[in-house]
Amino acid sequence: MVELKRTTKMRLLNKHGKHDKSFCYRYFRWVLWVSLSLYFFSSYLISSSSKTTSLPKTTVSVSKGSFLSRALFESNTTVSQQPRTNGIHLSRGLFNDLKVYIYELPSRYNTDWLSNERCSNHLFAAEVAIHKALMGSDVRTLKPWEADFFFVPVYVSCNFSTVNGFPSIGHARPLLSSAMQLISSEMPFWNRSGGSDHVFVASHDYGACFHAMEDVAIADAIPAFLKQSIILQTFGVSSRHPCQDVENVLIPPYISPESVRSTLETAPVNGERDIWAFFRGKMEVHPKNISGRFYSKRVRTVIWEKYNRHRKFYLRRHRFPGYQSEIVRSVFCLCPLGWAPWSPRLVESVALGCVPVIIADGIRLPFSDVVRWPEISLTVAEKDAGNLGKILEHVASTNLSIIQRNLWDPVNRRALLFNRQIEEGDATWQVLRELSLKMERSYRRRSSQIHSIPDS
Ligand SMILES: *[C@@H]1O[C@H](CO)[C@@H](O)[C@H](O)[C@H]1NC(C)=O
Ligand SMILES: *[C@@H]1O[C@H](CO)[C@@H](O)[C@H](O)[C@H]1NC(C)=O
Ligand SMILES: *[C@@H]1O[C@H](CO)[C@@H](O)[C@H](O)[C@H]1NC(C)=O
Ligand SMILES: *[C@@H]1O[C@H](CO)[C@@H](O)[C@H](O)[C@H]1NC(C)=O
Ligand SMILES: *[C@@H]1O[C@H](CO)[C@@H](O)[C@H](O)[C@H]1NC(C)=O
Repeated sequence: MVELKRTTKMRLLNKHGKHDKSFCYRYFRWVLWVSLSLYFFSSYLISSSSKTTSLPKTTVSVSKGSFLSRALFESNTTVSQQPRTNGIHLSRGLFNDLKVYIYELPSRYNTDWLSNERCSNHLFAAEVAIHKALMGSDVRTLKPWEADFFFVPVYVSCNFSTVNGFPSIGHARPLLSSAMQLISSEMPFWNRSGGSDHVFVASHDYGACFHAMEDVAIADAIPAFLKQSIILQTFGVSSRHPCQDVENVLIPPYISPESVRSTLETAPVNGERDIWAFFRGKMEVHPKNISGRFYSKRVRTVIWEKYNRHRKFYLRRHRFPGYQSEIVRSVFCLCPLGWAPWSPRLVESVALGCVPVIIADGIRLPFSDVVRWPEISLTVAEKDAGNLGKILEHVASTNLSIIQRNLWDPVNRRALLFNRQIEEGDATWQVLRELSLKMERSYRRRSSQIHSIPDS
C-alpha cells in the first residue's frame, strides 16, 4: 500500500513538472547500483581466478576429464579442507547442488533390452545413454531423501520389430505404468509429489504420447500418470501440441560419439567438401495417404522430383551404413521432416561440420539457449522445398563461410552428443542444467525453505 501511494505521488509530481528531479534521482540510483554490482562482480572474478591458480598441480591435471568428476575429485583432496574449493563453488553455481536419485528397477525394465546391441546405439538410444551417464555422475545420490529429482530408467524403444526393424512401442505404456506402480508402492517419493519431481525419457517420435503416428499419438494422449512428471523428449514443436503438454526438456536424438569421432578421423585431410547438397534416406516417389497424412508432408517427394537429376544434389534413397562419410564430405545437409519434425541428421550434420538445412515448419530445437541454431543452420519453409537450389546458391554466395565458421564452435557439437561419462557441456550436462532450472519442483528444497533460510 505504502509503495503504491509513493508511486502515485511520484507520477503526480511528474505531471506537475518535477520530471527532471525524479529522473536524476532514478538515474543516480541506477548508476550506484551498476557500480556496486560491477565492484562485487569483479572482486568475485578476482577471488575465483586466484583460487584456480592456487590449486595444486594434481587437481589441475584432472581438468581434462569430466567437469563433474573433477568437482568430486577436488572435494576429496586436501584442498577441500577450505570451506569451498573452486570446483565445488562452480558446480554449486551451475547446478545449484543438484542431486538426482536413480531408481534401481528390475532388469526387465531396462538392462535386459541391452542384449540387443542396437538398443544402445540407435537414434532413440538417449534413454539408455542418459541413464548410463547419470549412473556415473556425481549429481547421483544414493539417498533418495536428499534428491531433488528422481530418474525412472525404463527403456521403451528397444523392442525392435522383426518385420521392419523399427521399434515397436506398443508395450511402452504398460511397461511405464508398471514401473510407476512399483516405485509408488515400495517407496514414498512418488506419492508425496504426485510424480512431479520424477524424470522419464521419451526419445521416440511424438515423445510422451508414445506413438509414431501423429493422429494416433494425439488420440492416445499423454498417459495420465505421467502428466505431472518431467519428460525428456526429442519431439518438439514451437506451437502447442498435446504430446508436449507436459513439463519437458527437449533432447537431441542419439548419435554415437564414437562413430562421429571415427568419421572425423577418416575425413578428407584437407577438409574439402566435394558434395554440395546431400540427403540420404526415405524418399517416397508416391507417398501413401495414411489416414489423411503423407510421409514428410510430401516435402521429400518434392525434393526428389525436383533435384534428383540436379548435378549439385547428391540424393540417395537407399540405406547405407557409411552415410556419415558422405556427410563429412558435404557442404549442405538436408534435414527435412519425416513423420515428426526432428531428425538425427540435425545432430550428425552439426557434429560433422555440414550446414544443416532444416525443412520442418515449427520445429523446436534442443538446448536453444546454448546452441545458437540460427547461426549454424539454415531454415527453409516446407513450401519452399522446390526452391532449395536457388536458396542454397544464394547462401553459398553470401554468408556460407560465416555459417561454417560458427559451425566449428565446439560448444555446439559438444551439446548435442551424449557421452558415456558426463563431460562439461555435453548433452547429459545440458539436461542437468535444464533440470536445475526447475528446482521449484524439488520436494527437498521446498520443505527445507520452510525450516531454514537458503544459503545465497
Ligand atoms: C571420495 O570420498 C568418498 C568417501 O570417502 C569415496 O567414497 C569416494 O570414492 C571418493 N571419491 C573419489 C573420486 O576419490
Ligand atoms: C514387443 O513388441 C511386440 C509388438 O508390439 C509386443 O507384442 C511384445 O509384447 C513386446 N515385447 C515386450 C517384452 O514388451
Ligand atoms: C501410494 O499411493 C497408492 C495409491 O493411493 C497406494 O496404493 C500406495 O500404497 C502408496 N504408496 C505408499 C508407499 O504409501
Ligand atoms: C487422404 O485420405 C483421406 C481418408 O483417409 C481422405 O479424406 C483425403 O481426401 C485423402 N487426401 C488426399 C489428398 O488424397
Ligand atoms: C544467411 O543467409 C540466409 C539467407 O539470406 C539467412 O536466412 C540466414 O539467416 C543467414 N545466416 C547467418 C548466420 O547469417
